[in-house]
Amino acid sequence: MKYIIAPSILSADFGNLQHDIEMINQSDADWFHVDVMDGVFVPNISFGFPVMAAVKKHATKPLDVHLMIVEPDKFIPEFAEVGADRITVHYEACTHLHRTIQLIKSSGCKAGVALNPHTPVSLLQDVIEDLDLVLIMSVNPGFGGQAFIYNTYKKIKDLKLLIQGVNEELIIEVDGGVSLQNIVTLVSAGANAFVAGNAIFATDNPTETIAKMKSLTVSNFTI
Ligand code: DX5
Ligand code: ZN
Repeated sequence: MKYIIAPSILSADFGNLQHDIEMINQSDADWFHVDVMDGVFVPNISFGFPVMAAVKKHATKPLDVHLMIVEPDKFIPEFAEVGADRITVHYEACTHLHRTIQLIKSSGCKAGVALNPHTPVSLLQDVIEDLDLVLIMSVNPGFGGQAFIYNTYKKIKDLKLLIQGVNEELIIEVDGGVSLQNIVTLVSAGANAFVAGNAIFATDNPTETIAKMKSLTVSNFTI
C-alpha cells in the first residue's frame, strides 16, 4: 500500500508561492492539494485558473484539485487544461453526479468525490465503481486550521466496507485537521491519502514535518 501526503497550498505563503512550491517539490510529499473555493458552496474564496496555472508551471508532482464550488461542470474542462491531474467535486454540489464524474474522466483526469462531514458514505454506493478517489472532509470545508471531526474514523471504516470486492484500488483521502498526532490512527482506520495545510505550513520546518508524516504512514504499514 502506498500512502500519499498532499500538502494543501491554501496554507502556503501566497506572497512567495514559488518558494513553497519548490519546498514541496523537494520534500517527501506526493501531490499538491489545490483548494478552489467560490464563496457560494463554501463561505470563503481562494483562487482560480491563473493561480493554478502558476502552480502547475513550477510543480513537479501531480495536482490534486479539490473543487469547493457550485456547478463544477462549467469549469472542469478548464481545470484539466490548466494542469489538474485529479479533480474532486463535492457530492453536495452535484445534481447529476454520474455525469460530472464522466466529464472529469473525459477531460483526462482521475475522478474524485468529496463528502461533507454530514454526508454519509452510503450515498456513493451507485457510483463507487466509477471513482478513483473519495475525499472525506474531516472539517467543514472553507478554511484551513480547523479542528478535526472524530466521526471521520467511522466514515473511513464505512468506506472501506463499501469498496470491498468492488473497487479496492480506490484512494481514501482525508482532508481537514490532519496532523502528526492523528495520522497513524487515520492509517489504521483505512485512509491512504492525507491532506495537510496548517500542520505543515505552521511549523518551523515544513520539509521535516512532511518527512515525519510520511515516515509515520510507512512505519505503520510495516508493523
Ligand atoms: C478546507 C480545505 C483543506 C484545508 C486543510 O476546506 O479543503 O484542504 O486546506 O487545511 P488544514 O490541514 O489546515 O485543516
Ligand atoms: Zn481540500
